[in-house]
Amino acid sequence: MNLLTTRIDLDAIAYNTRLLKNRVGAAKLMAVVKADGYNHGMDRVAPVMAANGADAFGVATIAEALAMRATGITTPILCWIWSPEQDWAAAVEAGIDLAVISPRHAQVLVDAPPTSRTIRVSVKVDTALHRSGVDEQDWDAVFTLLRDCGPIEVTGLFTHLSCADEPDNPETDHQAETFRRAIDRARALGLEVPENHLCNSPATLTRPDLHMDMVRPGVALYGLEPIPGLDHGLRPAMTWAGAITVVKPIRKGEGTSYGLTWCAETDGFVAVVPAGYADGVPRAAQDHLRVHINGHDYPQVGRVCMDQFVIFLGDNPHGVAAGDEAIIFGGPGMSATELADALGTINYEIICRPTGRTVRHYTGEGK
Ligand SMILES: Cc1ncc(COP(=O)(O)O)c(C=O)c1O
Repeated sequence: MNLLTTRIDLDAIAYNTRLLKNRVGAAKLMAVVKADGYNHGMDRVAPVMAANGADAFGVATIAEALAMRATGITTPILCWIWSPEQDWAAAVEAGIDLAVISPRHAQVLVDAPPTSRTIRVSVKVDTALHRSGVDEQDWDAVFTLLRDCGPIEVTGLFTHLSCADEPDNPETDHQAETFRRAIDRARALGLEVPENHLCNSPATLTRPDLHMDMVRPGVALYGLEPIPGLDHGLRPAMTWAGAITVVKPIRKGEGTSYGLTWCAETDGFVAVVPAGYADGVPRAAQDHLRVHINGHDYPQVGRVCMDQFVIFLGDNPHGVAAGDEAIIFGGPGMSATELADALGTINYEIICRPTGRTVRHYTGEGK
């Protein structure tokens, strides 16, 4: 038995995938499974997504793309963070689509020694983020270079939105306009670019006018609402919980954990949860966590340690005992979004937190 687990509800993954697929109508669904499926276990969630409507997958790195292929997934996989110094040819051999994220990336592919495989690429155009992506002044050169290279097939263009989680922000329309200009320019230069996409989760849910040929959501597939304050009926798939290791009395005025930064105001009981900053509980979470045990919430108190933190049970009216499950977030506990709000971050970061000694358990059948 492991003391610290994330419970991943595969039925929730299936439900969210179908919900998104139904919303996008004819557009294809590229499910983003980077960062080990947003820390849900890519090898387990990707097949569920594929069975429930995902037409393609998006990952960050070549290693992730190869791991995806190794799961037996045969649909297209697009990889958008790679360096020409890496063995990118292995990705091409495995049938991975590579994103062209700079003119240098285009040049390296064009200069590559001949291979029997078509090199499938999608050009990432920068429409505002100023992160990776081909800038407008380089579009013509890159489109022409790729157009004239026989072994290269350009599947389409994509771009990434900067402010889609703020539905009233006009930047999304500006980016869409720039993106359409890129598509027009590519076609004018003789590139077909049949499959173009820019919608992340928030835009997939709120901007049907921008769905184009494909959408590319991530966080919504895992059941988290991407737009603060809205509710699109998604089902969170992850619950993080630890088994209480110790329950013991504390007297009024006694402190707990390093520095004794918290002292009991009354006689009562403390309990120890076996999760610390080595497992992804931020040390800065002190005083912000509320742990859920058997239907009741208890405050975290004192410093978060490397391997454990302490909660105060008051006079323990509900009889919390060693072995009871303490939910850190998810299920009936604090939601990932509530915890994010309490910690001044976003729910994306919260679901990426469970690590260290955490072991994943899967529930449901992905139906
Ligand atoms: C290029 C790209 N597309 C799509 C996504 C999915 O974004 P979201 O999780 O907001 O849907 C990401 C994630 O950051 C991304 O980097």
